Amino acid sequence: MRQSYCLESKSKMFRDALRNCEDVADSNVNVMILGESGTGKDVAARYIHACSDRWDKPFVVVNCSAYPDTLLESELFGHEQGAFTGATRAREGRFEQADTGTLFIDEIGDVSLSTQVKLLRAIETKQIERIGANQSQQVEFRLISATNKDPFTEVRAGRMREDFLYRISTIVIRIPALRERPEDIEDLVRYFLRRSQAEFRREITSIAPKVWDFLMRYSYPGNLREMKNIVDRMVVLSEGGVIDERGLPILYDVTPTEPAAERPHFTTILSWKEFKRQSEADYLRWVLEQTGHNVTEASRRLGISARQLFNKISDYGLR
Ligand SMILES: Nc1ncnc2c1ncn2[C@@H]1O[C@H](COP(=O)(O)OP(=O)(O)OP(=O)(O)O)[C@@H](O)[C@H]1O
Ligand SMILES: [Mg+2]
Repeated sequence: MRQSYCLESKSKMFRDALRNCEDVADSNVNVMILGESGTGKDVAARYIHACSDRWDKPFVVVNCSAYPDTLLESELFGHEQGAFTGATRAREGRFEQADTGTLFIDEIGDVSLSTQVKLLRAIETKQIERIGANQSQQVEFRLISATNKDPFTEVRAGRMREDFLYRISTIVIRIPALRERPEDIEDLVRYFLRRSQAEFRREITSIAPKVWDFLMRYSYPGNLREMKNIVDRMVVLSEGGVIDERGLPILYDVTPTEPAAERPHFTTILSWKEFKRQSEADYLRWVLEQTGHNVTEASRRLGISARQLFNKISDYGLR
């Protein structure tokens, strides 16, 4: 477990979250993991399972956002042969598969109200019934759920039942976003660099300073998932062991923290004529600087005659 994920951290907030995972591992309480997308909620759920005395028993995942309502129920509860059109064979549900182990219900914020009622009953009684069955069976599992939504908002908005939320959230563990643990960014980038070099069989010997700067300062709204993708992409696009600016994701603002000095700022409203005059003068001054005050060269580049340029220079008093 410790080899496949980076669980070292300089952030107290993240270490506390991990400590909570370890502390709850051996009890059978229902754990709800909260956190933004890509922060590592799946990773945390697997970590809890790995730390628990069920580590050698099944870890079964159901992603609720992947199925429409009726399919989700048959996924969870299973069905008997002939229970509905297309049910040509009996099928065991996830609850049964998770027996003696851990059931991880991911994206639990996406479960409909009517399915919540059925889930709640199954979680409370640990009795489940396959669809189309006339008998229930006892299952024994440890429940972990996760969502990137705010469950209290969901309850207030009437999308989540309060009794359901209280049942599944005996313990709540919140995984901090990457921007809440900026002290870990460098170590994580180095970790993902190591990992993707091994995965893609590439050896990286140098990284352009501008790229490194980007990696250290980017805001990573998509958290660890986004960081991993960016690093993978850079490693794959590297040539001769070098990650240069071509590896930078074009869709990202590569200079997020540079001062906005480029943007002109105005202080007074001038007449259009005066504004054009001043702007033209400023521009000509700059062009002359660039060309070493060579009027012939400047006029050629501007596409006007040397005579026209001389007139403007004396007009604006540029020399
Ligand atoms: N501590 C970690 N060490 C290594 N990789 C990690 C770590 N945390 C997350 N990742 C990687 O980042 C990606 C996202 O992690 P994960 O799927 O656990 O996030 P999530 O919070 O469940 O996201 P979502 O809300 O979108 O389901 C995965 O590729 C995972 O391997
Ligand atoms: Mg997830």
